[in-house]
Amino acid sequence: MEYRVKDIRLAPKGRMMIEWAKRHMPVLEEIRKEFSRSKPLKGLRIGAALHTEAKTAVLILTLKMGGAEVAVTSCNPLSTRDEVAAALAKEGVRVYAWRGESERDYYTNLRRVLNMEPDILIDDGADLVSEAHHIPRIVERVIGACEETTTGVNRLRIMESRGELKFPVIAVNDSPAKRFFDNRFGTAESTLQALMGLTNTLIAGKNVVVVGYGFVGRGIASRAKGMGAIVTVVETDPIKALEASMEGFKVTTMTEAAKYGDIFITATGSFHVIREEHMKLMHDGAILCNSGHFDVEIDVETLSRISTRRKRVLEDVEEFELKDGKRLYLLTEGRLVNLAGKRSLGHPMEIMDMSFSLQALGVEYLAKHGRRMEAKVHEVPDTIDRRVAELKLRALGIKLERQTAEQREYLKSWERGT
Ligand SMILES: NC(=O)c1ccc[n+]([C@@H]2O[C@H](COP(=O)([O-])OP(=O)(O)OC[C@H]3O[C@@H](n4cnc5c(N)ncnc54)[C@H](O)[C@@H]3O)[C@@H](O)[C@H]2O)c1
Repeated sequence: MEYRVKDIRLAPKGRMMIEWAKRHMPVLEEIRKEFSRSKPLKGLRIGAALHTEAKTAVLILTLKMGGAEVAVTSCNPLSTRDEVAAALAKEGVRVYAWRGESERDYYTNLRRVLNMEPDILIDDGADLVSEAHHIPRIVERVIGACEETTTGVNRLRIMESRGELKFPVIAVNDSPAKRFFDNRFGTAESTLQALMGLTNTLIAGKNVVVVGYGFVGRGIASRAKGMGAIVTVVETDPIKALEASMEGFKVTTMTEAAKYGDIFITATGSFHVIREEHMKLMHDGAILCNSGHFDVEIDVETLSRISTRRKRVLEDVEEFELKDGKRLYLLTEGRLVNLAGKRSLGHPMEIMDMSFSLQALGVEYLAKHGRRMEAKVHEVPDTIDRRVAELKLRALGIKLERQTAEQREYLKSWERGT
């Protein structure tokens, strides 16, 4: 089987990392067992662009167990774990991913995945789907795709609104069983873990500025507060800004927050939310990092241009010295900090158990129904969402209260209010 990885000899270490993750992903394990019996993906080729790390490997091997042939590349040039990539290659997966690949290699690797002529795509950020749309024979062939993140779903909705989306896509991101846990609790823990792991900085007592109070920002703000940080939220949406304020956060503009923030974390999915005018107001030693999907939330190019010196001071920390002698510290080149750092662990395994179970069942659904689905962005079917949540509860040993027949009747009626 063809592969391009950094060093195939890293496979035994990668295998250990995958085994550890597998042990903590019980829902996916249930699905894996079922797939091994029913082989719902037999004869299908699946192309994936996902952060190539241990939890992803558990998903990829589950799909393989379901009978699919799989090719995988990373959806970010810095998020591949080379050990895991090597272990997957050893398992007979076509892997085209290594940490630190150039932008050119990144796009070549997406093309390599598409060259296997996949039937179904799994994407994180919509780069793979967008590349597929440039190759007519692939567009013709693809049954459908599943999309993992907010930024990807936003891009796909724009494609749909312009009549440019040519096959159905399931918005795994938008399912409650994903967004309420992965985006919120997963990104919160992994972002703070990465921030601490890459810098060894103290969070308690620091002024932490969270830019964007959506699912991701909400989680980060709440966990940073729990660790003793004084949290400020910057938002453009009036409802979210109010929610943040009533949650007890200071809410203000980026210009105001720039003056006193010690640590800035962006999570908007937007462009240049931290710009030159903000950087100039920041104090010496301020730390900047991003948890949004693309590396465009912090204007790194301008930061570099207005600096007299740019120097790597730790593996994933760069120091920018401005003309007045002030130093700002940027983590992981402005790429998503919770996955792009050498010591960033990504979301906890138990969280990805849910997100990737949704992916596996989404792929199975496309295999069954995709050919009859419209070329638009679809929600995850409610039955899949509930099944994943129920399996997770069972795995956690949590029991659900059941409605009585009388309650069901009452809730279905409108006649009596009392
Ligand atoms: N790092 C990860 O592992 C990870 C995980 C999940 C999602 N994401 C990414 O994180 C980003 C946010 O995802 P989400 O699910 O929270 O999206 P969301 O749409 O729920 O939230 C984004 C928030 O940012 C706000 N916003 C937009 N522009 C802003 C600006 N200029 N200043 C301040 N606030 C602004 C919006 O009003 C919104 O409330 C996306 O790019 C998503 O793909 C990353």
